[in-house]
Amino acid sequence: MRAGGEFDGEKGRLAMYRTRWQAAGFFMVATTGLMLSSCRCTQCGVGPKEAQSKMEVNVEPFGKTPEGQPVRIYRLTNANGLKAAVMTYGAIVVSLEVPDKNGALADVVLGYDNLDAYIQKSPYFGAIVGRYGNRIGKGRFTVDGTEYTLAINNGENHLHGGIKGFDKVVWDDEPVRRPDGVGIKLSYLSKDGEEGYPGNLQATVTYVLTNADELRIEYAATTDKATPVNLTHHGYWNLTGGQRDILAHVLMLNADRFTPVDQGLIPTGEMPRVRGTVMDFTRPTAIGARIAADYEQLKFGGGYDHNWVLDKGGKKMTLAARLSEPTTGRVMEVYTQEPGVQFYSGNFLDGTITGKGGVVYQHRWGLCLETQHFPDSPNQPNFPSTILRPGEKYETVTVYRFSAK
Ligand code: GLA
Repeated sequence: MRAGGEFDGEKGRLAMYRTRWQAAGFFMVATTGLMLSSCRCTQCGVGPKEAQSKMEVNVEPFGKTPEGQPVRIYRLTNANGLKAAVMTYGAIVVSLEVPDKNGALADVVLGYDNLDAYIQKSPYFGAIVGRYGNRIGKGRFTVDGTEYTLAINNGENHLHGGIKGFDKVVWDDEPVRRPDGVGIKLSYLSKDGEEGYPGNLQATVTYVLTNADELRIEYAATTDKATPVNLTHHGYWNLTGGQRDILAHVLMLNADRFTPVDQGLIPTGEMPRVRGTVMDFTRPTAIGARIAADYEQLKFGGGYDHNWVLDKGGKKMTLAARLSEPTTGRVMEVYTQEPGVQFYSGNFLDGTITGKGGVVYQHRWGLCLETQHFPDSPNQPNFPSTILRPGEKYETVTVYRFSAK
């Protein structure tokens, strides 16, 4: 389905047209029949038939942007009854319902009930950020001898792709059905010069809610000019289901080093060891345990807002983080092929946002674990390169896996 065109469906199974939705003016839901020949659901204990009956992809209209672009929302259910909702505006995960230790589902991501609220003001709730997640110092970089200037939207720096980044555009969409999960494939063409970036970048992001209780995110991109690319998911997690702040959540980061920042949150280029500092999460530690410590790095962003260098970061899928919440027993593990993870403790949430269900998001009501290449890499020669060239393919996978105990 193109954002500006027709819903082409898959082999005629979802033969619907947006124009028809608009003209008919009635609420329309498309439930895809899951023609699964084999659904092996080893963790849920249900047979292929039962798994098949629970797995669903429903597509619904979700309003329009101020420019009149229709937005759709995909409601996904996996074989175990976990639910996710993803919309085409910003490729945003609007909700994600996972069980606690008693099997009770709760929505573990912050966000809003409707599209307009996301458009009016959102600190990147649940979105895909790009073309470059996190900051590029002074919005400037040089590739192959040419200097580029990007949109400045964070002090003197460029943040999360600029003024109108990938979190604020409507993506094309198509449903995804696999033997092991259901999802949505989103595509966006970022034109040459958009927010100052060189090259036409064709990006796709596929979310799959798998029957192993994972939110799997597959990123891909190609370009026709050398450009930096660093896509990430900016979900705000709260494993209590948004009931209180995240200070009692326990975090493990599989990282011996981090990248310290200056006052503008731009990396200095160093990669010191975390051992003996409040940045050490190699052993599970409550987020609130040391967040108020007298430690310079915590002052710049008002808490944790740093990139950790993953021990085995690289092309191989590796455990980056484990987050658990003691009262509900919910656990989230993050696996990634990226070399880093930005742990942001929701420091800029300050009670001025009222989110889903009328809940006021107070200070540190959610936390982000953004798998990524390191911030400001285009200006940091000792960081892994983020430059994608014509003929190359950017491909990277991150998985958020849920359980409870
Ligand atoms: C990232 C940044 C933070 C902040 C949030 C959004 O995590 O590192 O500094 O900009 O996004 O508010």
